[in-house]
Amino acid sequence: MANDKVILQVENLVTAFDTEEGRIRAVDDVSFEVKKGQTLGIVGESGCGKSVTALSVMRLLPKPTGIIENGRILFDGIDILGLPADRMHEIRGRRISMVFQEPMTSLNPVHKIGKQLGEIFQLHFQGMADQDIRDESIALLHKVGIPEPELRMEEYPHQISGGMRQRVMIALALACKPDILIADEPTTALDVTIQAQILELIKDLQRESGMVVIFITHDLGVIAEVCDDVVVMYAGKVAETASAFELFKNPQHPYTQGLLNSIPRLEIPRKTKLNIIRGIVPSLYELPSGCRFRNRCPHAMEICATEPPPLLSVGEDHYASCYLYTGSQNNF
Ligand SMILES: Nc1ncnc2c1ncn2[C@@H]1O[C@H](COP(=O)(O)OP(=O)(O)O)[C@@H](O)[C@H]1O
Ligand SMILES: [Mg+2]
Repeated sequence: MANDKVILQVENLVTAFDTEEGRIRAVDDVSFEVKKGQTLGIVGESGCGKSVTALSVMRLLPKPTGIIENGRILFDGIDILGLPADRMHEIRGRRISMVFQEPMTSLNPVHKIGKQLGEIFQLHFQGMADQDIRDESIALLHKVGIPEPELRMEEYPHQISGGMRQRVMIALALACKPDILIADEPTTALDVTIQAQILELIKDLQRESGMVVIFITHDLGVIAEVCDDVVVMYAGKVAETASAFELFKNPQHPYTQGLLNSIPRLEIPRKTKLNIIRGIVPSLYELPSGCRFRNRCPHAMEICATEPPPLLSVGEDHYASCYLYTGSQNNF
């Protein structure tokens, strides 16, 4: 459906890897869309295909093993999967940029922070004067909450704390005022207080600039803080999708319900054991037939072993991939 409010549309994305043991599909028929000015959360346990989804959108899959087998990724109406490498290079960074979980993997340890910021401006705004680059870099560091930015410009990544490094990463990602910022577990490696500060920062920047944020996390608690809409992924597939409000009020997929039950809550005494979902995400080499969650599901039925369940409508703009809802179609 054409909708000018939608800035990114992922349709039936299938991303595979060629490995020594054969080809595996890390993302298998995933669809979602993001509207202008909104924050989309992608949530799921480790190994569910969140990062591979993000890398597919960025077209940064490892070559030659990472392959997009099927699907379309429409950015502002253009299918970016069909773009030549140089056009994609312009979009990446300038219009869509990404913050990774571990900043040291994308910060260059041998270059000063000021130089790394400056390089981004030079790359995307050729002919910008040195003094302007310096002024813009300092302003940007200031904006992401880095104290004494003039001094930080002269420092190397290892000289600052993990929280500050993540802020530098965000500054680098924001340098070109992207339309979309993909934040892949940007707070996972940080302690709780710093996590909260980084989340606050992303929220503020989002409110101020209206950019779209795709926020990837394994922690459903974080989603509640920042997201408008949510995609819950399980073993490479979409388990459930809804607005954050609806998802928390009315979770339908047993996996989402399990994730919600495992969020620590203040009102529950600390010694009470959390309801962690038993079992683990299946290996992509040994996927169960039918529903990929069935081995861990408290409601598994015979039909669950047949085919993977389709995404069924379970409410307004609310879909769950679960046989529990086969009989409740089209009531919305
Ligand atoms: N370069 C790769 N080669 C082979 N398999 C990969 C590669 N990258 C990721 N995978 C596999 O794809 C699956 C999804 O990974 P990922 O998207 O990183 O999960 P998440 O970000 O949700 O933790 C995992 O099973 C992972 O082992
Ligand atoms: Mg990941």
